[in-house]
Amino acid sequence: MADDTTDTKSSNQMWGGRFASGPDAIMEEINASIGFDKKLFAQDIRGSIAHATMLAHQGIISAEDKDKIVHGLNTILSEIESGNFEFSRQLEDIHMNVEARLATLIGPAAGRLHTARSRNDQVALDFRLWVKEELQKTEQMLTGLIAAFLDRAEEHAESVMPGFTHLQAAQPVTFGHHCMAYVEMFGRDRSRVRHAIEHLDESPIGAAALAGTGYPIDRHMTAKALGFREPTRNSIDTVSDRDFAIEFLSIAAIAGMHLSRLAEEIVIWSTPQFGFVRLSDAFSTGSSIMPQKKNPDAAELVRAKTGRINGSLVALLTIMKGLPLAYSKDMQEDKEQVFDAAESLELAIAAMTGMVRDMTVNTARMKAAAGSGYSTATDLADWLVREAGLPFRDAHHVTGRAVALAESKGCDLAELPLSDLQAIHAAITDKVYDVLTVEASVASRKSFGGTAPSEVRRQIAFWRARN
Ligand code: ARG
Repeated sequence: MADDTTDTKSSNQMWGGRFASGPDAIMEEINASIGFDKKLFAQDIRGSIAHATMLAHQGIISAEDKDKIVHGLNTILSEIESGNFEFSRQLEDIHMNVEARLATLIGPAAGRLHTARSRNDQVALDFRLWVKEELQKTEQMLTGLIAAFLDRAEEHAESVMPGFTHLQAAQPVTFGHHCMAYVEMFGRDRSRVRHAIEHLDESPIGAAALAGTGYPIDRHMTAKALGFREPTRNSIDTVSDRDFAIEFLSIAAIAGMHLSRLAEEIVIWSTPQFGFVRLSDAFSTGSSIMPQKKNPDAAELVRAKTGRINGSLVALLTIMKGLPLAYSKDMQEDKEQVFDAAESLELAIAAMTGMVRDMTVNTARMKAAAGSGYSTATDLADWLVREAGLPFRDAHHVTGRAVALAESKGCDLAELPLSDLQAIHAAITDKVYDVLTVEASVASRKSFGGTAPSEVRRQIAFWRARN
């Protein structure tokens, strides 16, 4: 194929100086990234404007050339934004598409833009800027989801529901308390996002191919112009590092895992068997054959998106794990993983925020379920410890017998007559009935972080002040 007497394809106009012929069609196909990295056009142009401005400031290019370059780049920006830009696969990627168009627009001055940089630091810059913006967006979206949960928690600080372990009713809690558990989870996700923004807040531009450059550039100037805290410190690491993308994906995977657990709970709660919540029409679908059905498709899809996000994280970790320093073309495969995960995460957070805000909570069903399954058995045991001085282990045993008796009679603990309870342990008095209701059980759990409405309100106030 590389026989220049038979090949009529022209060599690449950007790097083809030493090439006699152009690439094979398959080479072009495997090499081109423009199909997906055109998403980086705004970052690419911003980065180039900052770079050209710095080059002129340092006397590396003339002010006239810089003006032409900046003007041309702004023209390209509006061409792309208005859909009047023709992307070419022959030009491989967004960087060369923009530069080639610049040459058409302003002539030879365009050739000066790539002084003292390489596509290696250029792509590291563009992608970092993109991921930084995505993290900022994620931070805001998580804040919205937390706000939705805070409102529901406030509304339901006193609504009792069964708390589960092993998905078996364990002890009564409030729905507000349950909502606040998600606030804690998404709060941690948001703090991970904030840390990730701090980690990536260093400017790669000026690392050049890998070794830095002999031109008297000012990397602090470009870092500042692009809104980074400072320039990166090691040029080799700069062009070979994709930690910022992997960190985004791992945060997305953890947040996705939280969203998926919530999705799973919504799927369970919205079954007629549970009936704890009813999804709004806006967040459910019907069945084409069974007219009675209302399906939690949005929740199910959130659960599935999480699988996709996990796939992206594993894909990029695997792409990177065997690469010697510094840049290798493998790294071009980083973008689709991040773009796909970002889209999934945004959709999942938005759908969940809508579902949480819209769903109708059936407090009567929750309350009925909270009382079933002998969920106040621990309260009986605690009462025996507190009021009758029994060691907890003995109280546990006595309570177990009471549960067995209630079970054999087909009633709740609170429905056992006092004589039955006294037959099991003589120290039991009618005061015990005060703790056997779910409301009393919940109200008694005033330990810090516990389910008592007063504690739940304290948690809400804490998060309102930080959100
Ligand atoms: N399209 C490439 C990427 O996304 C840009 C960097 C190319 N650098 C190179 N040395 N071929 O990674």
